[in-house]
Amino acid sequence: MNTHEFINKLNNRYFNGELSVPFCEQMGQLPMDRPDVFAFVQRMFAFMKSSGLPAKDVSLLQADVISTLLARILPGAWEGRIPPITVQGRHAVVDQYIKNNSWMSSGGKKMLDIGCGFPPFTTLESADYLNDWKITGADPSLPAYLIYDADGNYATLDEQKSTVYFQPAMPSVESWNQLLSDSAATKKRFENLLDELLKQSVTEGFPRVEINPIRSYETERISFITGGIGQITIQPQDLIRCFNVLYYFDAQFQQKALQWFAQQLNEGGILLFGGDWAVSTECYYDIYRKENGQLVSKEFAFSIDCICPFGIVTWYCLHEDEPQKAKLMNCIRMIREDKNFMDSFYAFHDAQRARYNLCARDKEGYYGSIAPDMQPQVLWTLAGTMLTELNDAGFNQKAADVLRKAGLKTKVNEVGHVAVEM
Ligand SMILES: C[S@@+](CC[C@H](N)C(=O)[O-])C[C@H]1O[C@@H](n2cnc3c(N)ncnc32)[C@H](O)[C@@H]1O
Repeated sequence: MNTHEFINKLNNRYFNGELSVPFCEQMGQLPMDRPDVFAFVQRMFAFMKSSGLPAKDVSLLQADVISTLLARILPGAWEGRIPPITVQGRHAVVDQYIKNNSWMSSGGKKMLDIGCGFPPFTTLESADYLNDWKITGADPSLPAYLIYDADGNYATLDEQKSTVYFQPAMPSVESWNQLLSDSAATKKRFENLLDELLKQSVTEGFPRVEINPIRSYETERISFITGGIGQITIQPQDLIRCFNVLYYFDAQFQQKALQWFAQQLNEGGILLFGGDWAVSTECYYDIYRKENGQLVSKEFAFSIDCICPFGIVTWYCLHEDEPQKAKLMNCIRMIREDKNFMDSFYAFHDAQRARYNLCARDKEGYYGSIAPDMQPQVLWTLAGTMLTELNDAGFNQKAADVLRKAGLKTKVNEVGHVAVEM
């Protein structure tokens, strides 16, 4: 099946053939030689349908991201490894939640951030904000070398000096395309650059090399361990955070992970796992507390922008049985089925999109794209502002009310997220 036939099939199956022509044309750029990408897109569309998302609410920006960026960041592009992608500031609201939540009762302040990514920006930001906590970051892919090229693009390399991962200085679609149009050549270029930089010992400015770079981030309160879930040995913790990791795994792995998390927690300690994107948009997570030696589910929470996101984290996962996505889609569907809520949500949110010129509706009512020269940082900052405005206008509370009417025990939690008590 070629890309065109594939998109047509999905359009008919998940959107009654109602996706716009420009959307389908953009999706035509999906790489035909990547079955993992095709499967991923099909899963996303199935989630969209199950949550009641109409064709007009999937934007041209999302078509652009799905068709050109997705293939670059899936494990299939990195020999099956989960890339250590992280985004500065993405856990700011999660950190506020850690500071203010009412669940934790273990009395201590030791946190494990597992699957912390590299560079471990978000772990460092948490340590900054939670300044009386001791934090251990852990990740199976902490690199032996980190190098930056003259433009600030970076690559991580292993002990054998092979490139494991690289990322543009500014991760826009264009800059990714520049590096990834010939991925093997880019890897080789970084490997040659490492040899050069090691000869000259260049450790300042751009280009530069950092050897065993994780050590430079360690302080009295921050340490790092190489290893993943089930692989590391650590003292009991008061909080485990695992963000943007488990959506790469299936339900069975998640079940085992929960057992392992339980063993690593102090009694009364909490587990917080989920996903999010820049500026804590598209944020969703589960909270469990260790009670009498067992993990007890307390709350599933999500930010209100998940019902109409700008990015794609809301549907991002590698297995269709991923348990959190099922919960999130179910909540979104219940909210979307409430016509009164959606009428007022659209009136407010579509006006925001028009005001900020961010994926506003076109004449036919389809969400569009952004100005071609808009930098990712500007885009996501605006998306974050719009989420704050939605909360300030009470849409988080209104959505919690909709779910309560449908029989769930809900509230707006300490950080403005719609929380469903389990
Ligand atoms: C997308 S990054 C998330 C980084 C960071 N937590 C964040 O939210 O920005 C996913 C990370 O999971 C790590 N990972 C892969 N397998 C893992 C495992 N079995 N246990 C823990 N982390 C794992 C990868 O190395 C990668 O750095």
